[in-house]
Amino acid sequence: MSTTTTGASTGAESEPPSVPLSRWLWLVGAVILVAGVLFGYDQGVIAGALIGIEKEWDVSTRLTEVITSWVTLGALVGALVAGTVADRIGRRAAVMAAAVLFVAGAVVEAASPNPSVLVVGRLVVGFGVGVASVAAPLYAAEMAPTRVRGRFVSWYQFGITFGIFLAYLVDQLLSSGDRWRAMLGVSAVPAILLVLLILPLGDTPRWYLTKGREDDARRAVERIRPDDPDAGMAEIEASIAEDVPQASWGQVFSRRWRTPLLLGIGLAVFQQVTGINAIIYYANKIFAAAGFESVADQTAATTWAIGAVNVVATLIAVAFVDRLGRRPLLLAGLVGMGLSLTAVGFAFRSLAQIPEDPVTQTARVSNPGAIALVGLVVYIASFAFSLGPVVWTLINEIFPRDIRGRGVSVATAFNWGSAWLVSQFFLSLTDSIGQAATFWLFAALCLVAFVWIWRYVPETRGRSLEEIEEMWVARSDSADQASRASAG
Ligand code: BGC
Repeated sequence: MSTTTTGASTGAESEPPSVPLSRWLWLVGAVILVAGVLFGYDQGVIAGALIGIEKEWDVSTRLTEVITSWVTLGALVGALVAGTVADRIGRRAAVMAAAVLFVAGAVVEAASPNPSVLVVGRLVVGFGVGVASVAAPLYAAEMAPTRVRGRFVSWYQFGITFGIFLAYLVDQLLSSGDRWRAMLGVSAVPAILLVLLILPLGDTPRWYLTKGREDDARRAVERIRPDDPDAGMAEIEASIAEDVPQASWGQVFSRRWRTPLLLGIGLAVFQQVTGINAIIYYANKIFAAAGFESVADQTAATTWAIGAVNVVATLIAVAFVDRLGRRPLLLAGLVGMGLSLTAVGFAFRSLAQIPEDPVTQTARVSNPGAIALVGLVVYIASFAFSLGPVVWTLINEIFPRDIRGRGVSVATAFNWGSAWLVSQFFLSLTDSIGQAATFWLFAALCLVAFVWIWRYVPETRGRSLEEIEEMWVARSDSADQASRASAG
């Protein structure tokens, strides 16, 4: 049995945030928050670290891309194996193993004598990110009573963006001395904090019960539901009795569930190919190309224009996703992203036409630089209130119960795979077709995503998971009837 969910959220499950949390649940909340921060820190930190790495070693564009993007390759593998690991050794042990890997990877990165060792460290850290990105939300989802589950998911999403912001801030503080080793090494801090937080907590009652450890399960329930542990035990036992066996891969890819599978994959891919991580990872380089001459100016722009805006806009999305619905947020966000990327493209085109300053050999900061800055702020804000959180919400609610675990894994793997594709080739792309054309390409993909979402993604707000499932069954039945009618 695998019940893996990544950033699981279902509108139907979230409850008003007025319900008080017990001390144990606050700790669980802290675990999910710090897991998000850890994830985010490792996404963001490379933006500032690249400046020092490129000064210390003579790295080619291709190697810079490998150093940046192989975290996502490690995460892709980590996310795929995490469900099985969390079922076998437990959710808590999986989170701890991920944190330990993280610390090991961070130490390797910080001490690396050459770029190859650094790449190994990046892969290890990525693997830890991947495992944690599945095991921590799963741990929190199983620890949280239904009434607070939605809240924990929001904390996770907030943690990710806050982690990116924190990484940018650390990068900015350490940038004057090019202390890239310290920047990467600092990621061990949230990992150690995560171990310390989860150490006094047990595993989830649900996992104990699936392993036949009734006494441990009871103790865990007594902590989470001190008001009524008997009811808590009964609920978990009933939900385990209802468990469907994990669907085979054949079922996951069967015609019956083709629509939710294609929707999950499409959403995961469009979230990445519209450029988000090109900007998150290479923000300082983009600002440098936009005319921000000093490292201090570049890192300040990255911290505040990208990092802080991302946090604030995510908070707005979390507040509105259940009120406004998924489709309006996605479509409005894509309009903002597409238009701002188009403007950024024009800014770069006019920058390319400014003659180079003969003294500094760089283009001067001018209006195009300001347009690029404003454009990127609008882009990040538009992403953060739409595709950022909403894609994860949808991925976790569109899959029918029996294929949910594997369906979410497939979508998550496509998400990491596309993140790798973009971060692996972004710099080469800008070298070969130029910055302007690269941003216009992302803008064009926003248009494709807009049309695809408009045409195919249904509104799920206010529908229970069962209602969503019935919708796919009805659609596949009517498609079958139509094909039988045309055949007969
Ligand atoms: C995406 C990440 C991205 C982050 C930025 C998430 O929803 O999955 O790839 O780095 O948003 O905030």
